[in-house]
Amino acid sequence: MQESTWRLFDRVAGEYDEVVPFFGSFGAAIVDALDPPAGTRFLDLGAGRGALTGPALDRGCVVTAVDAAPGMTARLAVSYPRASVLTMDAQDLGLPASSFDLVASAFVIHVLDRPADAVAEAFRVLAPGGRFALTSGGRPTSGFVAGLDALFAEFSAYLPPGGSMGAPLTPSDLLADFADVHEVVVDSSVAIADNDVLWRWVMSHGYRAFIEDLPPDRRAEFRSSVLDLPLGDGMLRRSSGLWIGTKPPG
Ligand SMILES: C[S@@+](CC[C@H](N)C(=O)[O-])C[C@H]1O[C@@H](n2cnc3c(N)ncnc32)[C@H](O)[C@@H]1O
Repeated sequence: MQESTWRLFDRVAGEYDEVVPFFGSFGAAIVDALDPPAGTRFLDLGAGRGALTGPALDRGCVVTAVDAAPGMTARLAVSYPRASVLTMDAQDLGLPASSFDLVASAFVIHVLDRPADAVAEAFRVLAPGGRFALTSGGRPTSGFVAGLDALFAEFSAYLPPGGSMGAPLTPSDLLADFADVHEVVVDSSVAIADNDVLWRWVMSHGYRAFIEDLPPDRRAEFRSSVLDLPLGDGMLRRSSGLWIGTKPPG
């Protein structure tokens, strides 16, 4: 991957979660699982188009939404005028210590160059007793998503060294400074109308980095395979781990 992660997301910001609200569906489930009371000082870390910001605002949280991609933050500021929106690197937050009750990061930490730095920043900006939550992905898939995952696994053989985006996380290690660390499972479920929509969705988020890193002939082959993938009941279903830890009091 030659390009900084946020630059890819900056390029796709206009389409991101607009093809189908896949991340929005996850975001609603994540905020439900965290169940923040009204007035919670909530930091959406790597906010994208606001999958967490929207549901947190709906619950009366006081939301700060941070993203490194200006294309994301420009759209966030328009969609969520009640949030404080900042263009900022999650690994080097220009935010005061102990200023949030809840820091939540959905599908971000695994795409960063320095995940541990982002977690350390989350720890720093949390008030004692505040919670940090991050997604870990990596749950088994079913339906056509399993077929899609099999395609990614097959074509990963054609990536150049260092290609693609993201690396598996070990959340229990990353959260070593937190107390009461535990995992809950969250789900997203959205309908995909047809294979053209599936292809547009694939190209509208981080998967695009994988596809752009393939050699041109393999990229064309991958696209044909996605366009031919049997969609079954047409439901795009995925589950993710949501790891939650508490900053020890005092
Ligand atoms: C997969 S998206 C997730 C967005 C949102 N949390 C959601 O659930 O839809 C990853 C986001 O991380 C942002 N990002 C990537 N690198 C970042 C960094 N160093 N600091 C802050 N945000 C970053 C991207 O711009 C993108 O919006």
